[in-house]
Amino acid sequence: MAGLVYPLLPSYWAGQKYLNTAKQLLRSRLQELIKQSDAGAWEPRDSNADELNLLSWLASMAKGRDREPDTISHVLVLVALASVHTTLLRMVNVLYDIIAAGPTLLDELLSEINTVAENGWDVNAYDKLHRLDSVLRESQRLSPPTTLGMKRLFKKPHTFHDGTHVPAGTYAALPIHAIENDAAHTPDPEVYDGLRSFRAREQFEQQSNAAAADKSGNVDNNNKLASAKEFQFSTPTRTVLNFGYGKAACPGRFFASVVIKMVVVRLITEYEFRFLPGTGRPKNVMLYEFLFPWPWQKVLVRRRKEGGCPF
Ligand code: HEM
Repeated sequence: MAGLVYPLLPSYWAGQKYLNTAKQLLRSRLQELIKQSDAGAWEPRDSNADELNLLSWLASMAKGRDREPDTISHVLVLVALASVHTTLLRMVNVLYDIIAAGPTLLDELLSEINTVAENGWDVNAYDKLHRLDSVLRESQRLSPPTTLGMKRLFKKPHTFHDGTHVPAGTYAALPIHAIENDAAHTPDPEVYDGLRSFRAREQFEQQSNAAAADKSGNVDNNNKLASAKEFQFSTPTRTVLNFGYGKAACPGRFFASVVIKMVVVRLITEYEFRFLPGTGRPKNVMLYEFLFPWPWQKVLVRRRKEGGCPF
């Protein structure tokens, strides 16, 4: 049935047009790389910045029917969809959340950035921004890209241990937004609390420090750090599933976390933001299970007179 309906949808033809453009742009480069790779004359080197990318990896690693320029181009478009939209969506929502929360949260974030910057700024600095990390996680809890996740097609019939039977061909998904926002997992789920995970992490670290300290007063740091990650933006847990879970969990989440922080740090250290008088944080638009920021929202922006970006 779906096969009859989708050619009638304008979005289907718009999608085909994007795919064809990508195939035309990438075809000759991919042909060249596959040819050289087949002849054993080329493989991507991490030391070459032009080859440290997904296009090169796919050209060297794709196998069987997938080792073909148009298929690889299609995959690249899908990865662009999975990575760009989700990351941009988070940046916009985090910015809205920070403006809406007011100066106290902003001051805490700026103060944390200053403290971290005192020891120099490199890629490791982003791991130390625990408050900003918490703001990202809280934003994704309330404004996720989608309310349904872990979407799977059952190729074989499956019976779960509670007796639930799923026939082959079933398309299944989990209500991930509802799970995370169940009060049993998130107290006062309707309240935006940017430092929610930060405080949970602090509390956990204090408790685990106390528990891991042996009689001589030493702390088992390895044990402590492994578990503190549970509260991070990039860590999926059994009730925080916006990046999926298990072996198919999003492989781009660590990259996304750094990129979003990089952009937000630059924005809040160099500019001041405010909603237009009489307006507030725009509500998300929901299309099916997908959430989008209101695209016509305007905000007031001005360059800060003091301070500045640490990088
Ligand atoms: C905040 C940003 C992001 C969010 C919320 C997000 C979310 C997700 C989710 C929910 C999945 C499916 C997991 C599953 O069904 O089990 C996924 C898969 C994937 N993501 Fe992301 N993602 C983000 C950023 C990125 C970035 C930046 C990249 C690449 C640079 C990326 C690459 C991928 C890929 C390749 C997959 C497929 C993995 C597989 O099937 O094994 N994602 N992502």
